Amino acid sequence: MSKFKIVAKTFAGLENVLADEIRALGAESISVERRAVTFIGDQALMYRANYLLRTALKILRPIAEFEVVSREDLYNHTKKIQWNKYLAIGKSFAVDSTVQSEMFLNTMYASLKVKDAIVDQFRESMGKRPSVNPENPDIRINVYLMGSHCILSLDSSGESLHKRGYRAGQGDAPLNEVLAAGMILLTGWHGEKDFIDPMCGSGTLLIEAAMIAKGIPPGMYRKSFGFEQWPDFNETLFDEICNGDYEKEINCKISGSDISIKDIAIARANIKSASLSKVIELHTEDFANLVPTSPNGIIITNPPYGERMKPQSISELYALIGDTLKKRFAGFNAWVISSSLDGLKSIGLKPSRKIDLFNGALACSYRCYELFQGSHKQAVIIKKRLS
Ligand SMILES: C[S@@+](CC[C@H](N)C(=O)[O-])C[C@H]1O[C@@H](n2cnc3c(N)ncnc32)[C@H](O)[C@@H]1O
Repeated sequence: MSKFKIVAKTFAGLENVLADEIRALGAESISVERRAVTFIGDQALMYRANYLLRTALKILRPIAEFEVVSREDLYNHTKKIQWNKYLAIGKSFAVDSTVQSEMFLNTMYASLKVKDAIVDQFRESMGKRPSVNPENPDIRINVYLMGSHCILSLDSSGESLHKRGYRAGQGDAPLNEVLAAGMILLTGWHGEKDFIDPMCGSGTLLIEAAMIAKGIPPGMYRKSFGFEQWPDFNETLFDEICNGDYEKEINCKISGSDISIKDIAIARANIKSASLSKVIELHTEDFANLVPTSPNGIIITNPPYGERMKPQSISELYALIGDTLKKRFAGFNAWVISSSLDGLKSIGLKPSRKIDLFNGALACSYRCYELFQGSHKQAVIIKKRLS
């Protein structure tokens, strides 16, 4: 099978976990870029990347790379590509763009130029053209233009890979599935210890954690991938990948709670849709009253950030989180993500790690609190003795 360059896109801060996942798939020439990881692989690796990577948003296959010195250049270079290798008259297509260039202040205009070049080439050579369908196209083409450097790619994923296909409903501020999986993998947890999300909302962290612990491929629930519409789609190869032996026995408890009955109902529906009801325990509970059922484990949670909360209630809620962790969760590592730095300060514990992440457009800090019995000073002494 021939090899080619593949680009996996992700969120800022998750590039290194994504590179680790790609390395585990056996890729070659892995390079970490800004919000992306590039590597070399064949068709099978491209299918496996779509099916198995938890922290990739899209898997792109670059088909042309060129310099653009004027707007017409983009049209002319695009028109030189032999598009009937990738697109047939009966198929629909759409063009997405990521543009940072003085030539194209309007991103849509770059998409439009590429679309025009493709349509004109088909019309001139065949007298007919494929249709454009921005919402649900068969083939997605991606334009990446930084300054004068342009890369045209085929989007092998189709809809973003965060759309796993298990979500039956969403609460007020659900985490993106790729971000949730990335947050879990950043901690190094793979199911070794019990996992708790005490403010679980719609259950995204719980479901992603259960999938990691059980080895469930993130692509398992998806109905389709972009590459299934490509002329070279190898169905037998993709079936073999989907029928692989990925699942393992789970050796930890995964439990979630939330103060809101409505959110717990949504989480329950999502967990059922992911066929994980037997793996994840759920209950309605104020975090202030939560009592751990094991002596140690990991807590990963995203409390409300407070866009709709008063500063006073944010500091009260985060102080309560800190107190509860200190009083009841000695032996646990707690990871909290928030865009509210004041809120995080109100937790009143010293984080052992801080990682910068984005939740959508919101800059967040993701912090680890190692919870020991007694004072931090005593804990440091104990830790030194043990090591
Ligand atoms: C940002 S949302 C979590 C979203 C969740 N990660 C998801 O993906 O859907 C924060 C959640 O904290 C819950 N919450 C707020 N105060 C709480 C408390 N004192 N105890 C437990 N849950 C609380 C809210 O009901 C809300 O569901």
